[in-house]
Amino acid sequence: MPDYSMLKEMKGAIFDLDGVIVDTAKYHYLAWRSLASELGFNFTEADNERLKGVSRMRSLDILLEIGGLEFTEAEKLAMADKKNRLYVEYISRLDESELLPGVKPYLDELRGSGISIALGSASKNALFILDRLNIAGLFDAVVDGNRVSKAKPDPEVFLTAAEELDLQPGQCVVFEDAEAGVAAAKAAGMQVVGIGRSEVLKEADIIVSGLHDL
Ligand code: BG6
Ligand code: MG
Repeated sequence: MPDYSMLKEMKGAIFDLDGVIVDTAKYHYLAWRSLASELGFNFTEADNERLKGVSRMRSLDILLEIGGLEFTEAEKLAMADKKNRLYVEYISRLDESELLPGVKPYLDELRGSGISIALGSASKNALFILDRLNIAGLFDAVVDGNRVSKAKPDPEVFLTAAEELDLQPGQCVVFEDAEAGVAAAKAAGMQVVGIGRSEVLKEADIIVSGLHDL
């Protein structure tokens, strides 16, 4: 039986974005697949699993490794930029209807109980996405890919979020769907609710299928 007592004691809730609040993985996939196809190779949905929680440039490295291709840093920056422009076209069409089940009620419930809420995301598009989903105002702090120098599984993103909430790591619970994110939260000394499949989220303290389960 999972131990939900950590949720009763938490003072701060730190949410990953992609895969926890909204399913953007499908748009990342379409944009990366388009780049791969321009480069002459196939990029599958199974390959896309490897990019979850991983920074944009690291994602590109994984993609190029799959295609067996090598490029200079400047060429890679141009490719990542091109992929992002396509991705931004997709996410420009996001609205509240794409919030994952249970997100809005859970955030409202936490706010009602006086729990501080932060975002801890690798994405450089996080603020734009929160805005499109019309939930930016529910967050007391937003720490995204523009504000950290070390990507998950490094704990920097979550430690910065806790600091901004004025809380100790042990008072915060992280909600994460990616293996690298769970590892980052554990390295930060925080408890973790894993969102998704137990095979990938073994290190999480409890695992649920979505925020609607809480
Ligand atoms: C993470 C996603 O949240 O953000 C990754 O899970 C993505 O798949 C990363 O690569 C960076 O996102 P962006 O929006 O800065 O390209
Ligand atoms: Mg995620």
